[in-house]
Amino acid sequence: MARIVVLSDIHLSPTHGFFWENWCVAREFADGANGDAVIVNGDLAINGPDSDAEIAFAATALAKLRTRVMALPGNHDVGDEPPGQDTEQIIDADRLARWDSSFVIDRWTLDAGGWRLLGVNAQLFGSGLVREHAQDQWLSEQLSAAGRPTALFLHKPLFLEHPTDDDVSPSCMVPSVRTRLLNKLNQSDVRLIVSGHLHQHRDRTVGDQRHLWVPAVAFAAPQAHGGDGRCGVTVLDFSQDDVQVTIERPSGLISHDLAAIKGHGRYRFLRDMPPSPPPHAG
Ligand SMILES: [Fe+2]
Ligand SMILES: [Fe+2]
Repeated sequence: MARIVVLSDIHLSPTHGFFWENWCVAREFADGANGDAVIVNGDLAINGPDSDAEIAFAATALAKLRTRVMALPGNHDVGDEPPGQDTEQIIDADRLARWDSSFVIDRWTLDAGGWRLLGVNAQLFGSGLVREHAQDQWLSEQLSAAGRPTALFLHKPLFLEHPTDDDVSPSCMVPSVRTRLLNKLNQSDVRLIVSGHLHQHRDRTVGDQRHLWVPAVAFAAPQAHGGDGRCGVTVLDFSQDDVQVTIERPSGLISHDLAAIKGHGRYRFLRDMPPSPPPHAG
């Protein structure tokens, strides 16, 4: 096992189906990619923090992939850590329970080639929840036991430009929490950090780690952060010491303009819009 497909920010919904066709294109790509696993790196839903139906719908969609699926939650699934981009949707125990009821786990390990892959729930960092502490302990144990090159997968990037940035932004991890996490990662052989959330591809090495932002499946980057904002899917090859990264843009994948979909300010959130269910979802 060495070839991993990463799909991020698929933003599915049974009532707001703007991105269903893109999902079908990405699913077809993943089914034909000869991958050993598909990692879905958060934002599976649009209104997951407040809708049982959305989380269940995403789980049903993922179950139809022909390859083993490893899913991680994003802010549109379990809510944001404080202060968050939406004060109405901060992560809490009930929202985690909703995720658990469909996906069972929100952190995992996976071996690929000579690498160990660790997936964590990005929204827990800085949440103050009991599960944040449990995840911190689990991550420390996994890192000390790995004994091989390690890649960390999580929905949000650790920082936008530099690890010492001190702006608090819902676009990335809270600075104080990031510093603690980086100190931990720097004590082990973590070489790659793979995040979604910003809906853009950027690939930089900062310090000892390569920070890979993967593109979204659903819609183009709503804000510029120095990356390529077009939609895409990612293939990672872990058969060498150096990970090979390929960004694919399968035919039919449309880089939707989020502002246009929301009527250029007419609606604040997609969930506020009139229902438009996906055609022939299944
Ligand atoms: Fe997203
Ligand atoms: Fe996100």
